[in-house]
Amino acid sequence: MQNLTPTQPTPADLQAYWMPFTANRQFKANPRLFVSAKGMHYKTADGREVLDGTAGLWCVNAGHGRQEIAKAVQAQILTLDYAPAFQMGHPGVFELANQLTAMLPGDLNHAFFTNSGSEAVESALKIAIAYHRVRGEGTRQRLIGRERGYHGVNFGGISVGGIAANRKFFGSLLTGVDHLPHTHSLEHNAFSRGQPQWGAHLADDLEPLVALHDASNIAAVIVEPVAGSTGVLIPPLGYLERLRAICDRYGILLIFDEVITGFGRLGSSFATEYFGILPDIVTVAKGITNGTVPMGAVFVRQGIYDAFMHGPDNAIELFHGYTYSGHPVACAAALATQEIYQREGLFEHAQALTDYWENAAHSLKGLPHIIDIRNLGLVAGIELESIPGKPGARAFDCFLRCYEQGLLIRQTGDIIALSPPLILQKEHIDQMFETLGSVIRELP
Ligand SMILES: Cc1ncc(COP(=O)(O)O)c(C=O)c1O
Repeated sequence: MQNLTPTQPTPADLQAYWMPFTANRQFKANPRLFVSAKGMHYKTADGREVLDGTAGLWCVNAGHGRQEIAKAVQAQILTLDYAPAFQMGHPGVFELANQLTAMLPGDLNHAFFTNSGSEAVESALKIAIAYHRVRGEGTRQRLIGRERGYHGVNFGGISVGGIAANRKFFGSLLTGVDHLPHTHSLEHNAFSRGQPQWGAHLADDLEPLVALHDASNIAAVIVEPVAGSTGVLIPPLGYLERLRAICDRYGILLIFDEVITGFGRLGSSFATEYFGILPDIVTVAKGITNGTVPMGAVFVRQGIYDAFMHGPDNAIELFHGYTYSGHPVACAAALATQEIYQREGLFEHAQALTDYWENAAHSLKGLPHIIDIRNLGLVAGIELESIPGKPGARAFDCFLRCYEQGLLIRQTGDIIALSPPLILQKEHIDQMFETLGSVIRELP
């Protein structure tokens, strides 16, 4: 068997793996390998500690190497490794559904499980269209997303998503999709702290779409309450409220994609609670298991679930599901994760740190290249001016230098995103922004 020595991978060792969303040739020439992780830190193959400024990929909210999750996963595999997801059940999945729906506001009280955020989005879009059909409004099939939205990488998700690079290679995508304008404006909102003042009116762009297609043809609107992967776009004050109101007016379902904002990122369980807005469907993933075992979920309101519960008792109500929906091991990881979140009060801890976080982020204002800083909860976006003709190059350089200096950041275009594990302390915040600041000062 080939032995990949973590400390000294040769270029040949790295060839077989086609890395996702990665500059493969650059990486394989200069590999960055993590070999272990504990708490707030990763360890690299060459023995350096790297402070995790991104909770992995926005998912390790309770920090790395949690014993409780490892034990629960091990015990679950030895007790019940797998149970068929269709026409059979196991106790953990019902317990998890009960726990999670109790955390959600209003009547978002039914959970459908998937294995990723992308699958959660596909499931949500399918449920939305099918919901209208089972109610006798089968013409409601159109979907509305938003420019710069990220909803994973499957065909539904990239169709409603609004990131050109994720869409342009993949053909005609879903038909019957429109996009609202994104809400980002450096002109009006640069260096806003928390929710920006300008932009609520952008939700009104839903009205002309309704006028164009007629509400009777529109199934749902899907947005990230805070757009993460596209570079931290914070919703303007009043924007989400207006979107909710317009959807209500026309019987259009509102889907919040909370794959990033779920599980404490904003200092509350979910963004729906943070903003005080009740969507009809919520998608989650990532922090549901602290990133340890793949899992996603879709939460729907009572009326949506009820609409499907008709016909003969032995009839399947929704022809959709995955072999690994509600996998026992994922459920065990999720239950252990939720227990940690609650016992350690991590969402409250995140909330208590948000002012300190905001001040630290905005202390970078005035450094070279920085054209915007934005924040909400324990998320910050720092936008750099692009090098003419080389979009993304400056922030990528920043990412590489930070890694060398012992800090993991996330780069998208020329935007740096920070979203640390919620266990962090003030000294980690200091270290994060000191390192980032000194790297940005040195950038050409
Ligand atoms: C808002 C949102 N939706 C969906 C996804 C897709 O999740 P996954 O990568 O687990 O498929 C992501 C991933 O970053 C996301 O941020």
